[in-house]
Amino acid sequence: MSTTFTHQQFRQVLGQYPTGVVVITAVVPGQPPAALTIGSFTSVSLEPPLVAFYPDKSSSSWPRIQQQGKFCVNVLSAEQEHLCRQFAQKSSDKFSGIDWRPSPNGSPILKGAVAWMDCEVAEVRELGDHHLVVGRVLALDSQASDLPLLFFRGGYGRFIHSSLVAADTRLVEFLPAVEVIRTVLESTATECKAECLLAARLHDEFVVLASAGNLPTVGDARPTRVGRRLPYIAPLGVALAAWGPPDDIPRWIARDSTTGHPELEQWSELLALVRDRGYVIGRGDIPYAALEQAIEDRDGAVCSDIVLEALSEVRETMLTQPQLSDEHAECDVRSLTVPVFLPGNHTLQIGLYGLSATMSHRDLLTNIRRLRSASQRCTEMLGGAAPATPLHDDLEVPR
Ligand SMILES: Cc1cc2nc3c(=O)[nH]c(=O)nc-3n(C[C@H](O)[C@H](O)[C@H](O)COP(=O)(O)O)c2cc1C
Repeated sequence: MSTTFTHQQFRQVLGQYPTGVVVITAVVPGQPPAALTIGSFTSVSLEPPLVAFYPDKSSSSWPRIQQQGKFCVNVLSAEQEHLCRQFAQKSSDKFSGIDWRPSPNGSPILKGAVAWMDCEVAEVRELGDHHLVVGRVLALDSQASDLPLLFFRGGYGRFIHSSLVAADTRLVEFLPAVEVIRTVLESTATECKAECLLAARLHDEFVVLASAGNLPTVGDARPTRVGRRLPYIAPLGVALAAWGPPDDIPRWIARDSTTGHPELEQWSELLALVRDRGYVIGRGDIPYAALEQAIEDRDGAVCSDIVLEALSEVRETMLTQPQLSDEHAECDVRSLTVPVFLPGNHTLQIGLYGLSATMSHRDLLTNIRRLRSASQRCTEMLGGAAPATPLHDDLEVPR
């Protein structure tokens, strides 16, 4: 019977079903061990103890594992997304840099795995473009205190019990985008030696969607939590405001103002400058440290008074953007922010935080260029396009 859906629809619909992530491993005599990441793992039977998974017929690792007649199933922890990616790549030595010990049967147990099952191959069948592999479990153990890694709609996450936290389902729509550009965030954080955050506006809130490079802290800067919600109010989200609807700007400057918007002109000028330059600079350590403290101390409300007060201190440092033409000027740059353009006139922003106050003028310009290049790559990867007016490149940066 012919089907009424495309491959893409099949994948999209099946992607609504979350899975755990395991790595199937085996030792291959005379060669590096074989392994592959698997989401299609399931338990099958208690008596006899059977488990199963479905390797693709195109897998080069599965035939090498099958030849050994035995394997180990490693359930990855929520901290092991990097292992999930490493073992999902085609490579002749996926174990490079991986810490493991042998199971009773000799197969690799990955350090930090939440659970492992030592199996012998009980049955292999062809099913469509995959094999069905049934394993008989010979030995097993778990580290129940760790949370497993979860895979859902192309993104990774962890289990949160619904009675403990009301998960914010509005953030789920951003997961695929985060997944697509995660590598850019990670490489930018590494290159610039700072924390790289992806943030979005959700109605009246400014939300941190992803964080990369939780490096050792510099000064008072502390790594930021993903999912952190703050009021969408100046100076948070300057890049979002600069390329967002102009009508939203007065409310972004002063949410409940009864006295008009005395700073409207100043902020409008700043946003025009940001649109022209393509980035915005945050300066000075003290206001940021105070903001972090206020966020920690707040009573749970997104828009609490102490956070608003701390934000008003940071506003000043944002309104005067340094002139970068003077290489001897004191900059004291602590954050750099750029936009990412999504299809349909939506904007995200990428920010670098925890930059060193003693950064040289040359390093500052290099970091700005790196961040702008990250902005361009992310926009392309997400299928968006920068606004028609080209960014004014005012940087004389040594390459
Ligand atoms: C989260 C996740 C789940 C995956 N699940 C499966 C799966 O169930 N079956 C499969 O054949 N491949 C799965 N893959 C892809 C394989 O890991 C990948 O194709 C394989 O490692 C390719 O290398 P190989 O040629 O060495 O086998 C998954 C990848 C990821 C990231």
